[in-house]
Amino acid sequence: MQNFTYQNPTKIIFGKGEIAKLKEEIPLDYKILMVYGGGSIKKNGVYNQVMEALSNHTVIEMGGVPPNPEYEVLMDGVDLIHKENIDCILAVGGGSVIDGVKFMAAAAKYEGDKWEMVKSRAAIKEALPFATVLTLPATGSEMNAGFVVSRRETKEKLSMGSPLLFPKFSILDPTVIQSIPDRQIVNGIVDAFNHVLEQYMTYPIGADLQDRFAESILSTLIHEAPKVLKDRNNYEAASNFMWSCTMALNGLISQGVPTDWAVHGMGHELTALFGIDHARTLAIIGPNHYKHNFEAKKDKLAQFAERVWEIKDGSKEENAKDAISKLVDFYHQLGVQTKLSEYTADYKGTAEIIEERFTERGWPGIGENQIVKPSDAKQIVEMSY
Ligand code: NZQ
Ligand code: ZN
Repeated sequence: MQNFTYQNPTKIIFGKGEIAKLKEEIPLDYKILMVYGGGSIKKNGVYNQVMEALSNHTVIEMGGVPPNPEYEVLMDGVDLIHKENIDCILAVGGGSVIDGVKFMAAAAKYEGDKWEMVKSRAAIKEALPFATVLTLPATGSEMNAGFVVSRRETKEKLSMGSPLLFPKFSILDPTVIQSIPDRQIVNGIVDAFNHVLEQYMTYPIGADLQDRFAESILSTLIHEAPKVLKDRNNYEAASNFMWSCTMALNGLISQGVPTDWAVHGMGHELTALFGIDHARTLAIIGPNHYKHNFEAKKDKLAQFAERVWEIKDGSKEENAKDAISKLVDFYHQLGVQTKLSEYTADYKGTAEIIEERFTERGWPGIGENQIVKPSDAKQIVEMSY
């Protein structure tokens, strides 16, 4: 196991009816900017629950944060924070709203160009405090310190983070999933599944506990996902699904182990270029990334086969290959297509564009041990057509 220092300061308030606790968690004299997305919270009752809990607070509202939160929209929020002298931000939404709030919390206190802040992954020295009410289990953003923002103008989608960008607290009420459409539930399952894989599908390093944590999250997602899709009122399944998504990316399973993140690196480019849902880009790239880097990853692929899919009989190579097929089958069973050409007719040339973008950014390589050079990314994207 590698050395590590782990601190996750986010307080989690989990369960049915817990949105009411907002009242106690935010000091009464704080002026709050409440940020949400396209309006789903007004239809499913979450907005009313939040406003009722904060009825004695001063709340300024900002709706309209789109999926893959847009820089221009978020910059309006930064102006509002300054104009209204906001003390803290409350994100009520999924990963896009929470990520947008993280950007705003950092940008409001950052001197200098805010897009450059993201591009250069600047060291954040100060951030506005913020908290979240999660409405969509998927990204883990409610308990981590990273964010991803997009700029349609330049077709860019970039990520950064800072230890100052952990939410102060997050409220996770599994009943919010009742109103989530199938497409977004499926996205949540696939995204969380890939978060685990990015921190697991590398090479063995003797971190048995982290491996078994990771495998337990994968197995829970495999078993609970169909139940959630079938019946949104199954509270037990909803709870397991929600907590699995948070645990998949709150930093716990990545301590002391090598991590990959190349699938996300390439996937983000597909969202930036074609607007494909984040999770679906991971289903397009992931299996081909594992095929392309088979030698480097075959030990963990075989372990995944044995412990998660109960494939034990073949040789290591055979089992590892079967694990990739199982992964593709899992996506197909969820109704997720795994080829870029199934999402856009415009796919030709994408591999070259991504190779060029990675080269321009001067990245020495992504993935564990930087195994994915720009030319590898080109090949993996080509395999994904
Ligand atoms: O905008 P509204 O009207 O709220 O509708 C949203 C949106 O259209 C809807 N929705 C959310 N909760 C709902 C609901 N509809 C009905 N009932 C509810 N309870 O779902 C749609 C998608 O929401 P979004 O927030 O975009 O989805 P998700 O949580 O999957 O977030 C995706 C974003 O997070 C980034 C992605 O790149 C993408 O930009 N990620 C952030 C990460 C992080 N911070 O750690 C890691 C991830 O890998 C990911 O990159
Ligand atoms: Zn993701």
